[in-house]
Amino acid sequence: MSFTTIEPAKLRLNRSELAVPGSNPVFLEKAAKSEADIVFLDLEDSVAPDEKERARANVIEALNDLDWSATTVSVRINGLDTPYMYRDVIEVVERAGEALDLLMVPKVGTAADVYAVDMLLSQIEQAKGITPPIGLELIIETALGMQNLGAIAAASARTESLHFGVADYAASTGARTTSIGGANPAYQVLTDADAAGVRARHWGDVWHYATARVVVAARAYGLRPLDGPFGDIGDADGFAAQAGRASALGCEGKWAIHPRQVALANEAFTPTDDEVTQARRVLAAMADAVRDGKGAVALDGRMIDTASVRQAEAMVGKADAIAARNDRTSAPSAGRSSTPKARS
Ligand code: GLV
Ligand code: MG
Repeated sequence: MSFTTIEPAKLRLNRSELAVPGSNPVFLEKAAKSEADIVFLDLEDSVAPDEKERARANVIEALNDLDWSATTVSVRINGLDTPYMYRDVIEVVERAGEALDLLMVPKVGTAADVYAVDMLLSQIEQAKGITPPIGLELIIETALGMQNLGAIAAASARTESLHFGVADYAASTGARTTSIGGANPAYQVLTDADAAGVRARHWGDVWHYATARVVVAARAYGLRPLDGPFGDIGDADGFAAQAGRASALGCEGKWAIHPRQVALANEAFTPTDDEVTQARRVLAAMADAVRDGKGAVALDGRMIDTASVRQAEAMVGKADAIAARNDRTSAPSAGRSSTPKARS
């Protein structure tokens, strides 16, 4: 282990992250009851330029008037290069900051972008006495952001997660896409001919490199890596396959750009019963070893050590958080409330 220790971001469930356009009050109302682990109310790309002011007002109203206790709530502000961003931060946080858990920053290109938002947030929180500090979610979706990933990940103690924004990333890098976040048949390997002269085509994962980079940068700095949107909302199998790949690479969760994708994401990023049982066995075996004064022990013929214990603790912690979330969402609804929730 390095002598440098990294403080992990606040523990939150983030299997699913539902995008909700701020321009639509009906969607905002439904979102407060969503089973998504995190909901982000969007002021950016799902809102047309002439609706920006209206959407901001809707979001402030929704944060103040709806009961968000069933989920974690975030607001995606506009990019730093737009004329909307400063008022997004100031108006939303000044007028509804107590109800807000996270702020999502799109198209982050440099560490200085994160610094700028952090500085503005810090001033508003101080002026208004808002506690605890609002966290940041950063979208990596430009070539510049990808290039500066490490510095961006380390830029602010507020940052909780890095999100791979595949749609804008494809536009920024000039990658050819057939559907947002899906496979591309042009990205294939053609095998040599077999004895019968037949050549097979294997589709590759065109997003593998970018996703893996975001996972490594996020995990290196104790942040949650998130996989972004999957555009074909009618293709549940395609979504599940993409979520499975992201999960295999280490992502913590995935965006849902339609409510019907929430359950798919929750399922893909929920550890299986077998995984949780195994993790509990690892912890029990290690506890026995410690009691007997041993540093390492074998379980089912495999060595377990402190690294296995850390993985097992994370798995069990997540399983417990999911069970607690499921209990909360099956409890009778508290209904509408204008009382700001105690931020999680
Ligand atoms: C998300 O914002 C994306 O561009 O994919
Ligand atoms: Mg984007």
